[in-house]
Amino acid sequence: MDEMTKRDLIVIGAGPGGYVAALYAAKQGLKVTLIEKRFIGGTCLNVGCIPTKALIKAAEVYREAKNGRLFGIDAENVSVDYKRVQERKNQVVKTLVDGTVFLLDKAGIERLDGTARFLAPAVLEVETASGKVTFEADDVIIATGAKTKKLPSPGFDLPCVLDSEGLLSLAELPRSLAVIGGGIIGMEFAFAFSHLGVKVDVIEALPDILAMADREAVQRLSRFAKQQKISIQTGAKVARIETGLEGGAHIVYHQDGIERTISTEYVLVAVGRVPEVAGLDLENAGVLMGFNHGIAVDERMRTSVPHIHAIGDVTNLVQLAHAASRQAIIAVDDILGRDARMDYDFIPSVLYTSPALAWVGKTEAELLAAGIPIRVTKSPFGANGRAIIANQPLGFVKLIQNLETKRLVGATVFGDGADELIATLTVALQNGLSAEAVAATVFAHPTVSETIREAAAGILGEAIHYNE
Ligand code: FAD
Ligand code: NAI
Repeated sequence: MDEMTKRDLIVIGAGPGGYVAALYAAKQGLKVTLIEKRFIGGTCLNVGCIPTKALIKAAEVYREAKNGRLFGIDAENVSVDYKRVQERKNQVVKTLVDGTVFLLDKAGIERLDGTARFLAPAVLEVETASGKVTFEADDVIIATGAKTKKLPSPGFDLPCVLDSEGLLSLAELPRSLAVIGGGIIGMEFAFAFSHLGVKVDVIEALPDILAMADREAVQRLSRFAKQQKISIQTGAKVARIETGLEGGAHIVYHQDGIERTISTEYVLVAVGRVPEVAGLDLENAGVLMGFNHGIAVDERMRTSVPHIHAIGDVTNLVQLAHAASRQAIIAVDDILGRDARMDYDFIPSVLYTSPALAWVGKTEAELLAAGIPIRVTKSPFGANGRAIIANQPLGFVKLIQNLETKRLVGATVFGDGADELIATLTVALQNGLSAEAVAATVFAHPTVSETIREAAAGILGEAIHYNE
């Protein structure tokens, strides 16, 4: 490693923000150094998106196997081998991390295992296993991600109180789990563990779970949670966690002015994630923080300091892997002098519960609050052949059209397959398509995607398979 040579670009952090920035920049001809203190692939590949979805897939396979009778398939003695579930999850992670390392090496990116901090705007010191090294670069991209938000109340440091990473790495399936925070992480784990046979309680401080999503879809999801015997306590403020008599914990919380208790073996704390800037010594570079506790950036991902960009969770604008990767492209394009700006209007969100819930654009509530004239329609899965075949009659596609511009401005899909269906709607919304354009598109039969065309036709008052 050549300490003295100035790099074109140094990227700090190798998550879906940082590694994508490094790969894209190298492919554009830049000489890139990628510094990572823990694991290539970052949170997403190692302890976030990928292992959680591998766990969720295992839970779904178990559920399907047990429900085989509905389809005339009897599977006897279906059981969970949690050690094997963990092994497969870890294998999936390894495959993807190895693949990322291969791509980085093939692109000629200099990788450095170590922790970076700023000495000056263009100068970084990296602490590695073999000592400290100093680097200079024309440009720096900060992509250091986020970490679990901690709560200061008593008992949150007990060994049975875990964050998502700790829960993912448990060797044994817990008997019971209490989830503090009914947001995205909380609800994904609640469904996955409940399907694996774990007793699950969710404790949410706000009046409802998943405040960011379509209310009707959340209500429907809550009904599924109830059927699944997931108990959800809303408007509940945790006061403290106490050690249980036989290990485990008692969570003491207040709800409707009454003190209540939940006893559980393990506790998952999922109350949000905060940008990871500790130890970066941003003040040495003059990089300023924003109002949201993330690094302040403009639409080109530029920080307050010329030639330093920040992308991904550390900016705390949208904490999603695909948003981080898009910001990476924008930052590199800006470094290369191209006119690129980040557009947050149509970044899809997917909640991988069972059924799944996905949305893009604005929700009905947001548009109504902004006084925008809209038409909303809901195409039920109950009228769709493929959804009936799959025993998914309760799902729906909700589409929202701006009555003034005639553009589609919001979409929500609830039901299995929502994670994939949202892609079609994202293309439609991102490209300003009208309901007419989508309704005039032919979708293959029998597919659940036909409900998208039906919803678009519904906006025009021309749905064939349901009545408005
Ligand atoms: P990260 O992926 O966090 O990567 C940052 C990297 O920087 C880390 O590897 C860290 O070690 C390194 N680093 C930090 N400081 C330094 C330093 N000083 N020097 C060197 N290296 C440093 N998002 C989705 O879109 N879909 C999902 O399904 C999804 N599921 C999730 C499930 C869980 C349980 C969690 C926790 C998150 C999930 N997310 C999901 C969010 C997603 O993981 C993040 O949005 C994404 O990882 C952000 O990418 P990033 O590159 O900004 O940061
Ligand atoms: P979140 O913001 O989605 O949810 C946190 C929840 O905790 C909120 O409902 C909040 O009201 C609640 N809460 C806050 N303080 C509380 C308290 N003291 N007691 C009880 N409840 C409290 O954050 P979460 O779930 O931690 O996820 C972080 C981010 O990770 C998400 O915003 C998301 O962007 C990303 N993520 C994305 C996934 C996906 O795309 N499928 C999956 C998992 C995470």
